[in-house]
Amino acid sequence: MTTSDPANTDTPPGSDPNRRDFIHIFSIAAAVGGAGAVAWPLVHQMNPDASVLALSTKEVDISAVEVGQAIKVFWQGKPVFIRRRTPAEIEEAEQVPLSALVDPDARNDNLSGGVDATDDNRTTSSDGQATPEWLVLVGVCTHLGCIPLGTSAGENKGEFGGWFCPCHGSHYDTSGRIRKGPAPENMPVPPYQFVTDTTIRIG
Ligand code: FES
Repeated sequence: MTTSDPANTDTPPGSDPNRRDFIHIFSIAAAVGGAGAVAWPLVHQMNPDASVLALSTKEVDISAVEVGQAIKVFWQGKPVFIRRRTPAEIEEAEQVPLSALVDPDARNDNLSGGVDATDDNRTTSSDGQATPEWLVLVGVCTHLGCIPLGTSAGENKGEFGGWFCPCHGSHYDTSGRIRKGPAPENMPVPPYQFVTDTTIRIG
């Protein structure tokens, strides 16, 4: 018998169809099993572990911040201003009528949307308490994203005593609300809470 025999074209020696089917099925099963074995670690890796959660929040010691001072920290790659306001700065912010505001929205992540931009609503943390002495803001100009001046000593605080963005001349008041210039919105208040009297957790 030779391999040119038509009867043997589909069944060369050693290639029993039943055995081929078995090998084929086994190969698929092995591939599926292997894919599952690879997928599980990938899915597992996608669950945030403690180190990832730690990166999403930041605890800041504010015990050394004096009245009238401000500090800048970074949270999730963004600057955050924490300002310990003077009584005069608080009073100035509280007395601004809503009708004088460019942006009437509090833009406070600790409150539901559509809340008036009163100074109380701008200084409310996630526990629902307003702490007027402390103002916490994402320190990014809402025009085109520059970092406004007014946090470090001696910097230009603008016409309303808060912050000034020199990029195109936006002025923010002592509550971080836009009062003049091209910026359309108040600087946002990030989620935060007081962990102790001298520690703020952002995020
Ligand atoms: S980026 Fe601040 S005024 Fe343009």
